[in-house]
Parts: sequence; structure tokens; C-alpha cells
Amino acid sequence: MYFKQFLDERCGCASYLVASRQSNEAAIVDPSIAVEEYDSLLAMRGFRLKYVIDTHIHADHISGARRLAAEHGAELCLYRDAEVTYPFRPLHDGEELPLGQLRLRVLHTPGHRPELISILVINPERSPEPSMVLTGDSLLVGDVGRPDFGGGDASAQYESLTRLLRLPDWVAVFPGHFEGPCGKGMCGRPSTTIGFERLFNPLARLDRVPFVDHLSEAVPARPLNITAIEATNRGLADRPWAMLTTNPKVQEIGIDDLDGRDPDALLVDVREPVEYGWGHVPGAVNIPQADLADRIEELPRDRPLLMICQGGFRSLRAAQFLKQVGFDNVASVAGGAAAWAALGKPLDRADVDGDSRRIVETEWAHAGGASAA
Ligand SMILES: [Fe+2]
Repeated sequence: MYFKQFLDERCGCASYLVASRQSNEAAIVDPSIAVEEYDSLLAMRGFRLKYVIDTHIHADHISGARRLAAEHGAELCLYRDAEVTYPFRPLHDGEELPLGQLRLRVLHTPGHRPELISILVINPERSPEPSMVLTGDSLLVGDVGRPDFGGGDASAQYESLTRLLRLPDWVAVFPGHFEGPCGKGMCGRPSTTIGFERLFNPLARLDRVPFVDHLSEAVPARPLNITAIEATNRGLADRPWAMLTTNPKVQEIGIDDLDGRDPDALLVDVREPVEYGWGHVPGAVNIPQADLADRIEELPRDRPLLMICQGGFRSLRAAQFLKQVGFDNVASVAGGAAAWAALGKPLDRADVDGDSRRIVETEWAHAGGASAA
């Protein structure tokens, strides 16, 4: 067999190519939109792409699955319940996809998403048992996938984790993320084993109730442009530009600069509506980072834009994204609304319906690649 892991530094995602060196048939799992790297490897190795599998509908990066499948005449595969607008081969729990002498066995492991599947890789010529499992965002290294991206279920995540941890110790685990916003506390290693995670994953030692409490105790801020990215991956929109793929330099201004700001500048608060409601700098308008790409037409291109959030992290990423898509006069407010409030400056409040739990920052530092969890 042949196996390769691709790590995408832009979003902390991992994708995989599995192939049979006997039949030269290949499968690609969770491809990124930058499909050229898969194209060149397939050509170099002389592999024919048979399957393209998305383990789930991704919300943090644009999938390259449809493009790859169309270009190579491969079958596009998703779990049978996946809600997308385009045709695909529906996979069922327990189903095995033949790939030369190899078998790819589908394991339904919902929680992060209802349609999430893991893929067991079996090479019967060596062993009837699986040697590896591609877990998407169910089991991560030292963590599990967040269930709060829409449609997720912490209790289902507990069931899925339990199911995966019943696999033999030696099974190598290759997750869909090594960093990024899909987890809260990933270790950073790109792979692990079932045995190691059973012993040392902090969530593996929790019973159902504390496990669910842990995953539900706070509401993480929704990631940048999640609505546009998810809609694109479902086939409901076409916004491949909604993913932050560059690292442009952005001016950062201090809280003191806000008082004397250009009267023509528009102050944009990119926190969740409920955070904005709790208290925002007077004059700020609210466009959550999650909806920024969908609402980009609301931003004037002929006025300075000052992006603000709670502490200055989300606003920096939002400003970088706006620079990427052509807004030149954009800056981020270092320290954010927290620094403004700490100086005793007045906050405006707004009546906003929403979850009253604490909103936590779990976005991922694009520059430097460190987890901010
Ligand atoms: Fe995910």
C-alpha cells in the first residue's frame, strides 16, 4: 500500500492519499481546495483516483473534493445523511470500499457533525485487523472535535469517542486537524494511536455527563467566515475566496487612538451578537467574524475600517481577511473592547437574544501557527 498525509499550514487541516501499489487505485480523504499537490503526486506515482471522500461537511476550510472528483472521474463520497445540493455516493456505516487489495471501512462517528465518518484502513494481506483510522474531526490528538459548529451533538461525540477507543491499541490515528478552530486543546502532533489516546486523552477518562458538560460549558466564538465556507461546501453558495489563505501585514492601533479617530472611519465589532450586546465601544456596528464574507457588501470601500473584538485577535484576522480581498484602508484595534472597558471608558449595550454563557476565544493564530485555545 501507499499512504501520505498532507498538512495544510493555512488552516491546520490534514488530508490523506491512500493507494494500492498493486492496482494503482487511490483514494483521497478531506482534500483542500489546493488540489494541485494531489494532482502532481497522482501523476508522479501513476495512481488512478477512484474515490474522493469528505469525512464531513467542513466549516473551516473550502473542500477540494468536488473539483478533484470531477477532474479525475472519481466517485465523490460522503455519509448518506450529508445535506448537500450536489450528487454523491452515499456511504453507510460498516460499508467497505475496495481499493485494490485494501479495504476502506466506513465508521459513522457523529458528534462534531451529524454526518461525520471515520475511515478504517485494512490491508487483508497483512492482517484482517485495521492498521489505521482516519478520524476526520471526531477523535483528534489529545482532543475531540467541537460539537458547536451547527448540527453537532456532544452526547453523540461521547458515543463516537467510545466506539473509536474500542479499536485495538495499535491502530494509528490520523485526524482531520492538527491545529485550528475545530478543537479546543489539540496537542499539535499530526498523528497518534488508539492506545495512547485511551490512556492519555483527557476527554477519554470522562464519563458521559462530565464529557458533555466539558464540551458545552462555554460557547466558543464561531470561526471566521464559517457561514460562507459551510454554504460553499454544501453547494449553496460559491465563495471559495472566503478562506483566509494569506498573512498580510495589518496596522494595529491602540485604544487611545480610538478617541481621536477619523470621523469618517467605520468601527466594526466582529464579536458574536451577544457579546456586542453585553457592551461595545460607542459607535461600533456589529458584523460577526463568522458572517464577514456573507456581509462584505455592507462594508464601504471608500472609508477607513477599524476592526475590533474582545481582545484583538479576531479583529486582526478579520482585518487580514479584508486586506486579502482588496480592502486597503483597514486596521485592527489592539486590546479590543476589554482594554477599552479596563480604562473605565463608557460602553453602549444592546438588547440581543443569544446564549448567556461565556463566549470563549478559540480561534487559531494563523501567523505562527499556535493554538489560541
Ligand atoms: Fe470540521
